[in-house]
Amino acid sequence: MKTIVIANQKGGSGKSTATVHLAVAAEQAGDGPVIISDTDPQGSTVDWFNQRKRAGLETPRYSALALSELKTRIGALSAAGASYLFIDTAPSVGAVNAELFAMADLILIPLNPTPTDLRALVKGLPVIKQSGKPFSFVLARVRANLRNNEGTAAALEALGLVLPTRMHERVIYAESFAHGKTAFEVDPKGVAAHELSRLWENTKARITESQKTRKPERQHEQATAN
Ligand SMILES: Nc1ncnc2c1ncn2[C@@H]1O[C@H](COP(=O)(O)OP(=O)(O)O)[C@@H](O)[C@H]1O
Ligand SMILES: [Mg+2]
Repeated sequence: MKTIVIANQKGGSGKSTATVHLAVAAEQAGDGPVIISDTDPQGSTVDWFNQRKRAGLETPRYSALALSELKTRIGALSAAGASYLFIDTAPSVGAVNAELFAMADLILIPLNPTPTDLRALVKGLPVIKQSGKPFSFVLARVRANLRNNEGTAAALEALGLVLPTRMHERVIYAESFAHGKTAFEVDPKGVAAHELSRLWENTKARITESQKTRKPERQHEQATAN
């Protein structure tokens, strides 16, 4: 099982929206079973899940994660056959999220392409980097043709890898979320669903790539341990 932690210390950057949409994208691509978890006390993702259950939709599944037993719980989910675990986080990159980062195969950072959000990110990035885990930025809530977009994308490239697909500002993301749904159930052939499928492919590719580059490190660890 691969664990994807969605984080950004700024509230409203699109973490919860990206979490549930990517989780469903993974299921749609046949990459399930997918589990989601919400560690934000605000609970938007858990609210979404409860709505979804009421609407009779059964995937992805939900699992609560207590920080005190993170390792055991994640191990149990993996042993039970889950393929991907998406963890939505509170808008903070403090000590709590550091424990989550330690469990991540990838940290995904949704970011609105504005100078303010970029400045906020620069402050939060050291904690993410300290985890030593692969991370990627996702440009989120992108409004087409804004001059800021390309400038932010270029500035971000200097800080780390930016996934090539952008998640645009679309009414369908907000509206479907409110009903425990995603763009996939509302308009499966629409531009949003298409964009999400590509973003999920980018995410998977990023995990695969980062594992390739991390391999020598592990072999080295083994060699020194023997
Ligand atoms: N791509 C998007 N298009 C339209 N609205 C969005 C998009 N992403 C987020 N939103 C809206 O912005 C607000 C904050 O998004 P949310 O995912 O809850 O952010 P976070 O979890 O980072 O606080 C919500 O009202 C959500 O519906
Ligand atoms: Mg949220």
